[in-house]
Amino acid sequence: MNRKLFVTTALPYANGPLHIGHVMEYIQADTWVRFQRMRGHEVHFVCADDAHGAPIMIAAEKAGLTPQAFVAQIAAGRRPYFDGFHIAFDHWHSTDAPENHALAQAIYRDLKANDLIASRVVEQLFDPEKGMFLPDRFVKGECPRCGSADQYGDNCEVCGAVYAPTELKNPRSALSGATPVLRSSEHFFFKLSDPRCVEFLENWTQDGRLQPEVANKVKEWFVRDETGKPLLGDWDISREAPYFGIEIPDAPGKYFYVWLDAPVGYLASLHARFAALGLDVDAYLADPALEQIHFIGKDIVTFHTLFWPAMLKFSGRKVPDRIHVHGHLTVSGEKMSKSRGTGISPLRYLELGLNAEWLRYYICAKLTARVEDLDFNPEDFAARVNSDLVGKYINIASRSAGFISKRFGGLLSADLGVEGRMLLDGLRAPAEDIAQMFDQREFAKALREVMALADRVNAYVDQHKPWELAKTPEAAAALHDVCSTCIEAFRLLTLYLKPVLPALAAQVEAFLKIEPLHWADAQRALGAHRIGPYQHLMQRVDPAKLEALLPAPVEEPAPAAALPGGETIAPVIGIDDFVKVDLRIARILKAEAVEGSTKLLRLTLDVGEAAPRNVFSGIAANYTPEELTGKLTVMVANLAPRKMKFGNSEGMVLAASHADEKAAPGVYVLEPWPGAAPGMRIR
Ligand code: 2FM
Ligand code: ZN
Repeated sequence: MNRKLFVTTALPYANGPLHIGHVMEYIQADTWVRFQRMRGHEVHFVCADDAHGAPIMIAAEKAGLTPQAFVAQIAAGRRPYFDGFHIAFDHWHSTDAPENHALAQAIYRDLKANDLIASRVVEQLFDPEKGMFLPDRFVKGECPRCGSADQYGDNCEVCGAVYAPTELKNPRSALSGATPVLRSSEHFFFKLSDPRCVEFLENWTQDGRLQPEVANKVKEWFVRDETGKPLLGDWDISREAPYFGIEIPDAPGKYFYVWLDAPVGYLASLHARFAALGLDVDAYLADPALEQIHFIGKDIVTFHTLFWPAMLKFSGRKVPDRIHVHGHLTVSGEKMSKSRGTGISPLRYLELGLNAEWLRYYICAKLTARVEDLDFNPEDFAARVNSDLVGKYINIASRSAGFISKRFGGLLSADLGVEGRMLLDGLRAPAEDIAQMFDQREFAKALREVMALADRVNAYVDQHKPWELAKTPEAAAALHDVCSTCIEAFRLLTLYLKPVLPALAAQVEAFLKIEPLHWADAQRALGAHRIGPYQHLMQRVDPAKLEALLPAPVEEPAPAAALPGGETIAPVIGIDDFVKVDLRIARILKAEAVEGSTKLLRLTLDVGEAAPRNVFSGIAANYTPEELTGKLTVMVANLAPRKMKFGNSEGMVLAASHADEKAAPGVYVLEPWPGAAPGMRIR
């Protein structure tokens, strides 16, 4: 029976590059999807950028970009990750795309028609200088419990207290420094406490579709208080302008909270894919056989097991069939920050020439179906890859393929001998068990089983010693059988590893001159088939490269109090990081005021190239165009060009400023000593 699968991974915020944690989730989902396709099932595997919300709006403003341009710039940088790690999304979309606006609004209208939207007046902190309501994370002050200074509006990092931003003592806006004021506004709520929602969700979360530990955790929301009311309350789904998001129908100036439209992005991405294929997405979603599956991390379980299914159910749509939750990635036992990730950059991994499939293998070799954290440990990584992939698996081909091409013209024996046939039967027998393990996301178990099979093959090689057989002409037939058995065994192991190692499997298919392997091919045999010449398929991990990947240990920064404004020194970097920044001497050929901006100057800079560069710089408060013209300064010459409201900026001029620009305004550009010339590199 062919399954129909609609599979997604969590949509990453479009506020920065992808980190190793994202890549881990994509590898898990991609492996699962590839496995299902090898079984002959139909899969649509999509994702998108999560574009909306206050943090992204604020980051865009800081970068001098419209939010649309800001998220477009982030989206433009995604491809190298997918190509690099063989992550085969069928479509990548954005939650700011028209499909998502339309779908989110349609879902809201349906919920409203179903009497599940309420409106209530809410009091919130408002930044009078910025003219906007402040999200919790943008209010700072003293903890109401322990009095620690400089705590966020949602919880205290010192004592762990959880509170509302209105409870902070001496609150101030992290955006402007202004003291926030209380202001009320009308908010919209999704009535999750409605008995219909509670009944549905209690059932949906406890009917066996979720991992037991997830179901257990979610259960807490249904615990009743003395009045019989469950903990699950109504969900505030609206935000006031200015907000980068989707407008709420019939409510001018109000926008959906980013978490309302984010999961709708799963559907929007699917819609866009179907439109591109000319297929009927509604018919697809209406098919009772369709399984909708979301891969997510453990931190966003509430959104995916309560809000999202309820939104779908009560707007009359298909609900998810499964939520596949994974734990977090730690690096050498250290937790990583959600926004910054770890010091391990996926692109750096690729740039260093580390094989993407090593990482795929290593991650899969540790993944289970449970919600457990997974540790990336460099020594363990090298040992695992070298011993399993190179030592056990690749070794089988490298020990046998040469004889087949040199002695037998590349032709395999069809007979293989009794022992060879027995060995191969033993390799084919667990095909269904291994398939079950992949399907259940027990990847670690599946790979252990495959490596145990590889051990058996290596034992067979050790026992039959082809290198000895090759010395006696009478043993030619035996040599042929043994090596052909090894090649067939190698084909079977490749098949089992293909969901994890797709690029390597494609190389093996080319070498063996066979069609792309499907799971059913486990029950076939190559027989008297001619293979191609063997070329080495995989190197061992080079520990030096692995070391270069890992961040240098962070040393204690200089005491903060000694620095102007109390800004601490950034974490230590290696010279590798420093040389990435190409600093050059630039001559300011022209400096001009920018109409519509009091902060910016437009600079025309000579950096020794054929054409001058156009750079916008926020130094208008300190310098007149006249005093800059003709001067030398320092610029970052390899910064990605940025589209700004006023035009393209092709670099950045360096300037010093106090950490607290309000207390000590002033931006000071750098000027080199005499002798420096345009284009010289600063190192
Ligand atoms: O936690 C996050 O990174 C969110 N951007 C995930 C969104 S998943 C889905 F709901 F869109
Ligand atoms: Zn505290």
